[in-house]
Amino acid sequence: MKALIVANWKMNPRTLREATKLFETTKKLTASLKNLTLQVAPPAIYLQPLSKLVRAGRVSIGIQNVHFEERGSYTGEISIAQAKDSKASFAIIGHAERRMMGEGNEDVRKKVKAAIEKNITPIVCVGEKERGADAAHFEVVRTQLQEALLDVPEKKIGKVVIAYEPVWAIGATKAMSPRDMHEMSIFIRKTIVERFGNAGHSIKILYGGAVDATNVAGILREGDVSGLLVGRASVDSEALTALLTAASAA
Ligand code: PGA
Repeated sequence: MKALIVANWKMNPRTLREATKLFETTKKLTASLKNLTLQVAPPAIYLQPLSKLVRAGRVSIGIQNVHFEERGSYTGEISIAQAKDSKASFAIIGHAERRMMGEGNEDVRKKVKAAIEKNITPIVCVGEKERGADAAHFEVVRTQLQEALLDVPEKKIGKVVIAYEPVWAIGATKAMSPRDMHEMSIFIRKTIVERFGNAGHSIKILYGGAVDATNVAGILREGDVSGLLVGRASVDSEALTALLTAASAA
């Protein structure tokens, strides 16, 4: 199975020139390596120019956030139709950094619903802020999943991608262990199957949080995931080269 690597560029790089260079590097690496599919989420302002560099191949582009309304007075927001018009094929929804800015489960639900209706792949981010000795983090993730997927019809659940990103691992020096990810993947799948039946088995689960060349192979091999959501290591050419090389060999 091909590993899906989603590059979340966040608010990087600083110029379109640098973005173009990074995108070309990403494309070249992906073409030269086996077993990988790359999806890049640049800042929305770079979508149009980068869309011209996307040709048939293994790299596609998407958006880091969308608004659920079709149009109207929403200063600073971007609709799904606008993102699609710029060739976005997926949308990251409910990233921890957006939740920190006030986005709640209800917003995530509306965005996921709109994404499914408008036929763009939602990459739904879930993950607890902290972990204690008890199992409270499982409850946090269950609630996030249940609320995010509330309006998804059963026959559409296979279109949803879940990105599990424990907030404590995002931007951290250490990723979660593959073993703990494996446990979380089983939990996520079980939660989705409970609600959607067998169709839920087909859901793709990604891990995100401090993924780099040193830990990528372990997570891909033992984490029971379809791929990864990568922040920092996706915007630095050297780190990206090392990461994709290790992922391709996993
Ligand atoms: P990181 O970010 O890889 O820099 O930890 C991951 C993410 O926030 O998606």
